Parts: sequence; C-alpha cells; structure tokens
Amino acid sequence: MNDQDLVKLANDVRRNAHAPYSKFPVGAALLCADGTVVTGVNVESSVNGLSLCAERVAVFKAISEGKREFVKIAVSCPSDHCRPCGACRQVLFEHAPRLEILMGNPKGEFVRTTIAALLPDAFSLEA
Ligand code: THU
Repeated sequence: MNDQDLVKLANDVRRNAHAPYSKFPVGAALLCADGTVVTGVNVESSVNGLSLCAERVAVFKAISEGKREFVKIAVSCPSDHCRPCGACRQVLFEHAPRLEILMGNPKGEFVRTTIAALLPDAFSLEA
C-alpha cells in the first residue's frame, strides 16, 4: 500500500474511534512487513487513565494476530499532522526501532518522520 493510501486509511478509520470525552478521534494504519495493514483507533474509558491511543491499539491488534515486523505507521487526527504521544513512541520503538511514521491530517496531507527521530536515545532493556 502506498503512503497516500495508508494516510487515507488512517483518516477513514477515525469514524470508528470511541472518543466521547475528548471528542478527538484518532486513526492509525500500520503497514506490516508481510504487506498487510492493521488499523487502530483511540478507545476512551470513563475511568481516567484507561483510554488507549490509536497507535497502541493498532500495534497490539497486529501482535495479537501474530505479526511481529512493522514497516510504517500512518496516523491521522483532527489537528494538523498528528504527532504520536510519548507513551506510543515508546511502544512503537520497542516493536519497530526502524519504523517510518506518516503524520497525517484529515485532508490526507502528511509529514514524514521516523521513530528514531521522534524518540532519540530510547529506553531499552537491551541497552
Ligand atoms: N490520542 C491518540 O489516539 N494518539 C495520539 O498519538 C495522541 C492522542 C488520543 C488519546 C485520547 O483519546 C485523545 O487522543 C485525546 O488526547
């Protein structure tokens, strides 16, 4: 899947977000090394602290389906060029230290970066 389509998918899947508290629907589309794409949305809870971001939902869904290698993730949210939060950066780094990231917006525009650029000098048990 090309970059534009990956961002479009991240944007389209936002309609499935469960974000009644923030009213900030986020979507993610994770391209796996086997060529498949796994999506995720943010799922919020009425109990503070239990909500999960779209990026982590996508990664955890993919892992639960047996996927282990990830190439690229597109993220889209209502504001311009969605930046993964710090918690998601750590999880993304642990599962894909060379991951490419497309930070998209609802118009389908995106800024390209990498997890290495977003989380330099990351924590690792193997350090
Ligand atoms: N959110 C994500 O899903 N991904 C991010 O990278 C940043 C924030 C969600 C969490 C919460 O449901 C809403 O956006 C507002 O913070």
